[in-house]
Amino acid sequence: MLPDALPGDLRAALERAAPRLGQFGRRVLWYPEIGSTNDAANELAAAGEAEGTVVVADTQTAGRGRLGRSWTSPPGAGIYASVILRPHAAVASLVTLAAGVAVAEGIEASTALPVALKWPNDVVTREGRKLAGILAEASAASSVVLGFGINVMPAAYPAAIVSRATSIESELGRPIDRWLVLTECLARLRARYEDLRETRSAEVIGAWRARAASGFGRRVEWDAGGTMQQGVAHDVDADGALLVRTGYGIVRLISGEVRWI
Ligand code: BTN
Repeated sequence: MLPDALPGDLRAALERAAPRLGQFGRRVLWYPEIGSTNDAANELAAAGEAEGTVVVADTQTAGRGRLGRSWTSPPGAGIYASVILRPHAAVASLVTLAAGVAVAEGIEASTALPVALKWPNDVVTREGRKLAGILAEASAASSVVLGFGINVMPAAYPAAIVSRATSIESELGRPIDRWLVLTECLARLRARYEDLRETRSAEVIGAWRARAASGFGRRVEWDAGGTMQQGVAHDVDADGALLVRTGYGIVRLISGEVRWI
């Protein structure tokens, strides 16, 4: 499916941010409706598309979250975007954390809403309600497709999860400029991705840790291959794994998710 011309307000926001976007502003493809921006970016990556190309949609009919979940994506209510990356193997495991930091920084810079992070991929309010999620998927020829979904309006998430999810506009109580949020997130992604590429991973981990600090020291539980385990979240290590203290020592979680209890 061919992309449409960029809407005028998105084009204008990209032009304003262009000096800070680098390769993440060079080619932005817009779809009024698409299955999943991650699928479209994955196909482009397989066909040799350059690093930095961004796919944005107004609505997704098959938006995906992590762990096989769906990602509700009604028209105009959220930001649904995917970026093609080609990280060095040594830092590929840090892409999700770097993107979480970038999205948190982008939301905060464009709206002044304070934003925190929850391992591994949740962008949350200080009270812990989810505002945005990151989905990094391995793609062709050592590419990674980095997708992010941001709840802009309450319509962006199912009413049934209102105790766990929220949106930028419901938190602020006022409308926001969706494309300003997107372009700030892309500008921060450029900076944080550069940190990864230029051996400044420790800065990314430090920024992630600072935003996740309120989650450290809290009891968490997780599914370890069918049995539920519990411990106290302690830190993240240099590879982005979550370190949890348990009765039998420190456990290192590299995938899955944890629930605060
Ligand atoms: C999660 O929290 O589980 C990750 C959600 C990621 C959603 C985004 S929306 C844009 C991109 N396309 C998708 O199908 N998913 C990601």
